[in-house]
Amino acid sequence: MVLRINPSILASDFANLEAELGRIANADLAHVDVMDNHFVPNLTLGLPVVERLQQVSPIPLDLHLMIDDPEHWAPLYAETGAYSVTFHAEAASDPVRVARSLRERGARAGIALKPGTEASDYLELLPEFDMVLVMTVEPGFGGQSFIASTMPKLTVLADAVRASGLDVWLQVDGGINDDTIAIAAEAGADTFVAGSSVFGAESAAAQIDHLRALATQHAHGHR
Ligand code: DX5
Ligand code: ZN
Repeated sequence: MVLRINPSILASDFANLEAELGRIANADLAHVDVMDNHFVPNLTLGLPVVERLQQVSPIPLDLHLMIDDPEHWAPLYAETGAYSVTFHAEAASDPVRVARSLRERGARAGIALKPGTEASDYLELLPEFDMVLVMTVEPGFGGQSFIASTMPKLTVLADAVRASGLDVWLQVDGGINDDTIAIAAEAGADTFVAGSSVFGAESAAAQIDHLRALATQHAHGHR
């Protein structure tokens, strides 16, 4: 199975984003956290910055929109040329409409679930999505501890994806490090976001390779 490591630039030096993207050129996608200080109590960056990142990044962008009103904003982010755009289920009144607007613009469509949001309402919508993001911390900040009680939800999703035969990626985001990546891989994740664990390492590139090796070892052991 194909596994992906997507470093979160939230943990990088915001004064040197182009150079920081260069440190993770061996990763699969660059995870970009967009926060609006409404959906989450934190503010990061918006469309103009994402447009520039898209131009200078050596790898495709994986946008994680922690914002209200994805019906309005998500298609505009897809129009930047982002490879993947993920919006929050809790913020969307019509997730299928948002997903279709993303795919129409050539982006992969992702839906994110906060730790307390059940997967059951979304299983029948899987054909509309290219990725489900199971948040393993409360969205809003990097550097938090992994919430292991989200793993049964991930396994429910992994079983549903396998049974459907669809190519839906399962992403985990928050508190992913050398220890927790094994737990998430065993529970069925295939796409791993890591912020502080990658950008806090002396060699971000070496840490990406290390995380990929750990995930591969544990995913293959289980599935
Ligand atoms: C949290 C963000 C995460 C965050 C992960 O709201 O969605 O992407 O950057 O950071 P770490 O890996 O440090 O938990
Ligand atoms: Zn994120």
